[in-house]
Amino acid sequence: MPDILFQLKAVLRCSGSLEPIKQELDVFVREPARTLLKRGAPPGGGAVIEAWDVAGNTLELELRSDRFVRVHDALLRLKNELSRLLARHRIGIRDIEIKSYEISLEWDASIKLGRLPFVRELKQDGGRLILVLDVDYATLERRIPDRLLKLLEEKKEAASWKGKSEHWELLFESGSKPRGFDKDPTEEMVKRGWIVHAAGRGQWIYGPQLTRIFRAFERILIEEVLKPLGYEEMIFPKFVPWAVWKRSGHAKGIYPEIYYVCTPKTRDPGYWEDVMDYYKITNEVPVEMIKERIEPVGGMCYAQCPPFWVFIQGRTLPDEILPIRVFDRSGTSHRYESGGLHGIERLDEFHRVEIVWIGTKEQVIEHAEELRMRYRRIFDRILDIEWREAWVTPWFMAQEGKAGLAELKEVGTVDFEAILPYSGKWLEFQNVSINGDKYPKGFSVKLQSGEDLWSGCSGVGLERWAAVLLAQKGLEPGRWTDAFRRFTGDRLPEVFRFL
Ligand code: SER
Ligand code: ZN
Repeated sequence: MPDILFQLKAVLRCSGSLEPIKQELDVFVREPARTLLKRGAPPGGGAVIEAWDVAGNTLELELRSDRFVRVHDALLRLKNELSRLLARHRIGIRDIEIKSYEISLEWDASIKLGRLPFVRELKQDGGRLILVLDVDYATLERRIPDRLLKLLEEKKEAASWKGKSEHWELLFESGSKPRGFDKDPTEEMVKRGWIVHAAGRGQWIYGPQLTRIFRAFERILIEEVLKPLGYEEMIFPKFVPWAVWKRSGHAKGIYPEIYYVCTPKTRDPGYWEDVMDYYKITNEVPVEMIKERIEPVGGMCYAQCPPFWVFIQGRTLPDEILPIRVFDRSGTSHRYESGGLHGIERLDEFHRVEIVWIGTKEQVIEHAEELRMRYRRIFDRILDIEWREAWVTPWFMAQEGKAGLAELKEVGTVDFEAILPYSGKWLEFQNVSINGDKYPKGFSVKLQSGEDLWSGCSGVGLERWAAVLLAQKGLEPGRWTDAFRRFTGDRLPEVFRFL
């Protein structure tokens, strides 16, 4: 048996009886069809008609193939040729019913599979897997079986990474710095009334003191990094429709982590009247009733840079405007963090400045290095913190479910991590990523010269910076550097008192 075997049974229903032309069909099946189904395949390979039969207006076909000229391709080829033959007798093909479609392939039984799209039944038979498909002719025209096999390949690959830890390689250490604080800064801030848990999960309301610190971070970033490196500010959308995540690759894997956005199926108040009435009577929001009346159209900002790309999607850039350098700080990011929530370090709603640069491969790599050096000056001279830098699984590969493919050399992520004295753990608070040609390809952006376009991005998480600074230095401005106090002032604002 070949490593992969396809078997298909189909019934072609025609506009007239095929009985009178049975002889002609027999000739067709013997020769032109035989060659047709082997075209493009290596010797001995391709598809064959295993059996056929005519009854009244219908033609039944049984096809079988290896990986070359798969049975669905064979059927498409046969349909075209048969249409021509039948047309000579003024007969048309009315419709094609797929009676059965099975794929049998070699499969390691230790790789367990759940439900698969377009698969009715899944059987493991020794070293082989048998897929009984649930497909119609239109599905075959879309070549769904090919995609299904690609999916299985991906699952096999994913299984081979499982258990292997994500790539992590130390690149730089700042060395230790004197520490003067060993408490959890979130708890301290809550005690002092700087922050209050918001109504949503993993969400906080930041009072004037911490907000002052966040804004100081932003000003430092602008003065020390963004202005000197020639960045301009933009405003990226914060609702992300599926179309964007299809192009960015996120549509392959982020479903367990996003905040979904839904729109009403209609704005007609009449359609919603019973929902309103239910609430008025019970004071409960009828979530189940709402679910039936809404449509998921995308999610809240997750990685921040993907929706930017629509700005240049499908365009060609003149080489002389490179490198492009833009940043966005116009809103929140949202992740469903399940269980992993902790203080302001891991949140469902957080604030981040996202920095994006685009250029030739050389420009993008060189710029990532400049950015890193600029960040280092901030962490060393202004925040005076202890940190390290590591080469890790790129964030976009992790988010596409591809962690493990990280050992590519030029494309990848540098994570900045800082020690939290109260827990002894290292917290990732910053990244610099070289994303290769992933985004320009995904959003069809080209360069006039035809050279490859690359891009990079870097996310500065304000909560993460605060978590690191405050954990290492404490909440008293007197313990921070003069350089940092220049941005915050010597005293933080006190607005609220409670009785
Ligand atoms: N877009 C990247 C991320 O989501 C960098 O901010 O991590
Ligand atoms: Zn990004």
